[in-house]
Amino acid sequence: MNAPSRINSALDVRDQFPAIANWHYLDSAATAQKPQAVIDAITAAYARDYATVHRGVYERSASMTASYEAARGAASGLIGGQPNELVFARGATEAINLVARALPKDGRSRVLVSQLEHHSNIVPWQLAGYEVDAVSLTDDGRIDLTAAEAMLTGEHRVVAFGHVSNVLGSILDAKAAAEIAHSKGALLLLDGCQAVPRMPVDVAAIGADFYAFSAHKLYGPTGIGCLWGRAELLATLPPWQGGGGMIEKVTFEETTFLDAPGRFEAGTPHIVGAVGLHAAVDWVEALSLDAIHAHESALVAEARAALSSVGGVTLYGPEDSAGIVSFNVDGVHPHDTATILDDAGVAVRAGHHCAQPLMRWLGVEATARASFAAHSDSSDIAALVRGIEQVKRIFG
Ligand SMILES: Cc1ncc(COP(=O)(O)O)c(C=O)c1O
Repeated sequence: MNAPSRINSALDVRDQFPAIANWHYLDSAATAQKPQAVIDAITAAYARDYATVHRGVYERSASMTASYEAARGAASGLIGGQPNELVFARGATEAINLVARALPKDGRSRVLVSQLEHHSNIVPWQLAGYEVDAVSLTDDGRIDLTAAEAMLTGEHRVVAFGHVSNVLGSILDAKAAAEIAHSKGALLLLDGCQAVPRMPVDVAAIGADFYAFSAHKLYGPTGIGCLWGRAELLATLPPWQGGGGMIEKVTFEETTFLDAPGRFEAGTPHIVGAVGLHAAVDWVEALSLDAIHAHESALVAEARAALSSVGGVTLYGPEDSAGIVSFNVDGVHPHDTATILDDAGVAVRAGHHCAQPLMRWLGVEATARASFAAHSDSSDIAALVRGIEQVKRIFG
């Protein structure tokens, strides 16, 4: 009895999420539900404060520009960076594409990823002409850094690893990864999509070179994400898309560009998205990412224990996963599992989770995945377990 009530009371924020009343939403790793504070900030930005940024001379535009730039500072500050080190992109996917496209190869045409990467951290490198090498995982589903060290050569331009796996929840020892990357002159890019909403991140302490994340997984809006890059590195990157807003001077003969980060933001940006992201950053900071991490870790421990006790359920990933539990009910396709859970008011993701190489590594076609957020509690786990028992009854 003690553990569930502790978890229920640890973060009392469920009432702040209007879209999950009477629903057990366990798909936050796909996209997070939005607290009222974020919804209100977005509404006010459209209904009261809206104007373009960086262009208008009128007061409303100046104040919207200040809000947009304040959001940049907040998003960068959340991960220990400076405002001028943060580029707004459409999401983590676009952020990684930016680096893959804009970073000069400097004679190194290989990238080292791992077997657990999301397709967003594989395909952009392939499209940019890199040879992709993939590091194996440990038995419990972590990126094997000993293997990484052995595989890394002077031909690798970038080591690109997921900070937290979107399938297994495994947490990378990011500082060790940075040391390994730098020992061979490679840069470290971290895909922080699943880490930023779930644990404190400090890019300086890690020694990262690039860090990508999406607002919509951090309780913010879709359509906006962030690329953090070390200031001196960003300064060396040429623009990758052209248009308004990123230039200094345009003639038909030649165009000169703004300094970073402006030179990477062509066209009218997602102004209201930035305001919503700022509200989301304020919201997680008020709760504290340490508290969110402790809360989700306790839920993972409770869920793994509960699913194990049902019997006939295979769990993937390490015990200390960050907020994510992938599983299969033996002999049942995860799509069937997810459909029956849906009938029981429980939303989980089923499929390859945009990580097909990882599915092959695990030797499965797909998994079901329950992922937690600050609003999750023991009632979600109880509903999940009741649903799994129903799956087992139906499939004998
Ligand atoms: C680990 C990881 N990387 C990258 C992405 C891509 O993020 P987005 O679709 O927001 O660009 C996701 C989203 O599922 C993810 O979980």
